[in-house]
Amino acid sequence: MGRNFLLNVADSGFACVGYDLDGEKVDALNEEGKDFDVSGVKTLDEFLDSLETPRAIMMLVPAGKVVDYVIADLVPHLNRGDLIIDGGNSHFPDTERREKELNEKGFEFLGVGVSGGAEGARRGPSIMIGGKEEAYEIVKPILEAVSAKVNGEPCAAHVGKGSAGHFVKMVHNGIEYALMELICETYDVMKRGLKMNHEEMSATFDEWENAELSSFLVEITAKILKKKDDKSDDYLVERILDTAGQKGTGRWTSEAALEFGVPIPTIDAAVTMRQISALKEDRAELSEIGEDVFADGKDKLFKDIVEGNFDAESLRSILYAAYIVSYAQGFALLREASNEKGYDLNMDEIAKIWRGGCIIRASLLEDFRAIFAKDNSLKNLLLDEGLTQKVLNSRLNYLVFCLATSALDIPAMAFNSAFAYFDAVRSERLPANLLQGQRDFFGSHTYKRIDEDGIFHTEWEDEL
Ligand code: 6PG
Repeated sequence: MGRNFLLNVADSGFACVGYDLDGEKVDALNEEGKDFDVSGVKTLDEFLDSLETPRAIMMLVPAGKVVDYVIADLVPHLNRGDLIIDGGNSHFPDTERREKELNEKGFEFLGVGVSGGAEGARRGPSIMIGGKEEAYEIVKPILEAVSAKVNGEPCAAHVGKGSAGHFVKMVHNGIEYALMELICETYDVMKRGLKMNHEEMSATFDEWENAELSSFLVEITAKILKKKDDKSDDYLVERILDTAGQKGTGRWTSEAALEFGVPIPTIDAAVTMRQISALKEDRAELSEIGEDVFADGKDKLFKDIVEGNFDAESLRSILYAAYIVSYAQGFALLREASNEKGYDLNMDEIAKIWRGGCIIRASLLEDFRAIFAKDNSLKNLLLDEGLTQKVLNSRLNYLVFCLATSALDIPAMAFNSAFAYFDAVRSERLPANLLQGQRDFFGSHTYKRIDEDGIFHTEWEDEL
């Protein structure tokens, strides 16, 4: 990222210097940049001495403590008026804290969101600048010059004061999560529902890319889906392990939305699906439990749909099932919080005290209490076969319910998310293999294979 960004800055006619503790990266910069006004240095002294004052220093380091460490290294050597820019995916409260601390010491600070991956850094990223406008004025010509251009207009802007740049970038990433998950679910339906082969799926995304759905993620999905594996005769995406990684920006988006009271269920659902995709072993275990009512009756299914066989009793059964799933989610969160924070929660005790007096009291809590009394460490209530069977028994009703609500434009997000959660945590395989392919395509985030140990990266556009 850093090297590409510097080459872009130099390419745009500005002299610059790069500093990295990793000597190989510095050598690579000096080699690649030999025809430009850019150089790489391996020590902080060399770096600081080579900059004109007031200095403008941009950090491109992973979000979190590393940003604070780099700032702590720089600060003793800086002069009043020097500017530090954080160009990573920092969490906005950290940016607020850093701006305050640095301003108090007499330094300028900008929290800047940069999107576009390594390729974008070299050819033109989108840049979301936050902080004091006067501080931005210092580097505005450079950031505008290196940014992507659409119809000649730079994709770089001061979006607001303080942590605005990083907040906007965080929301960008939340939208990114949602679009990626939507595409993955589309692929799932194409493959398993419509039984399309890879060439057909790829051609379809390609077609969409050339019309109103035109977007980077649709474009790369068409390429990923038709990529053949060089280790088998399969398509590569089918060999990618279906557990998605995440660095936290999607989750922060959901957290901020929760705090601000803004509903963003599609982003939340995308974050949740990544978390569920990570529970590979649990999904495999849950997928074995219970007997599916669909097993013996596709014909009956159609008849039920056609005759619209849905009444209050059907509605009750799905409400009951959704109740079970909702408690299962809440208890799963308690279980995890108990482990993480060392609360040592006693689940059957909690089920017991929730049976009366509180808003969520219900007779089901008696059942849960009995289940937890047998196994307090149960990871998910749906691992109880009796409960899972109750949810499975209502699936036919839920199917008709979906058709009815959809036909009548009745929003049913809570039911849909409850049943989707049930399906997802019981899915032995999820389409997160494609998601890993997308992440690797645009960010070299790597992937694991299902048939070989190790970490892999592919140059997706190279011919085999
Ligand atoms: C971008 C991307 C970029 C990066 C994410 C991946 O705008 O260029 O969003 O920031 O690829 O960090 O995020 P996850 O690791 O959470 O998928």
